[in-house]
Amino acid sequence: MIKKNISVLLVFFLIISLTGCNKNSNESSSPKTSKINQMNISNPSDKRKTRISAVTLTPYPTSVASVVNKKYYLPITYVPKNLVYPKVPFLFKEKIEKRKMRQEAARDLEKMFAAAKKDRIYLSGVSAYRSYATQKVLFNNYVKRDGFKKALTYSAIPGASEHQTGLAIDVSGADGICAVSSCFGSKKEAAWLSKNSANFGFIVRYPKGKESITGYKYEPWHLRYVGHISKPIKNRGITLEEYLGIQSVSK
Ligand code: DAL
Ligand code: ZN
Repeated sequence: MIKKNISVLLVFFLIISLTGCNKNSNESSSPKTSKINQMNISNPSDKRKTRISAVTLTPYPTSVASVVNKKYYLPITYVPKNLVYPKVPFLFKEKIEKRKMRQEAARDLEKMFAAAKKDRIYLSGVSAYRSYATQKVLFNNYVKRDGFKKALTYSAIPGASEHQTGLAIDVSGADGICAVSSCFGSKKEAAWLSKNSANFGFIVRYPKGKESITGYKYEPWHLRYVGHISKPIKNRGITLEEYLGIQSVSK
């Protein structure tokens, strides 16, 4: 009997360690990491290999506070369980992959769009969830267009995109002018999002002046749902990396 109980406990701890305990949105401590490999990413444009520094599997992929960046990757097979279609306008009509978000993010997105509308700010979704396969196609196209090094400044290597979490969305004004372009930064919709998105659990994930920490150019349109930690992040003017106390991607 005692032996059986010990076996049950061992199996339990094994499952916990393999799943990362599915820590929930209250996760705020520095995540434990397990280095999985040193990746050599091939550059399809010139066949050279570019060495990416240590790459680690993100420890709590299902947490709304999970960190997914140039150092912390999602598993290739990771697909969020609870993807839904948020009831907000997008720049397109089709019910397709990029219209989806995780349920908790979708519900707060709906509240945010409704609040913006009350302020006469008319928002539109541009692109939300992206599978690993979709990100791979996108990234490779950017590499073909701009070269590997430049593509890395604005697009994530497959596995490193927050869009794969189902918690990120690119947002524009309803007219779509300057959608996913740097000129969006000077639009009233961007100003509204910067000021108000944290009230709905979202942060502007790649802020101006934090490029060396996030690894990406300023993206005023890319919002990431992080739940209740959005407010301290916004109020302190810091990034998710800084909030979690993890290294910037350039170190
Ligand atoms: N544009 C962001 C960094 C992405 O590709 O996920
Ligand atoms: Zn984005």
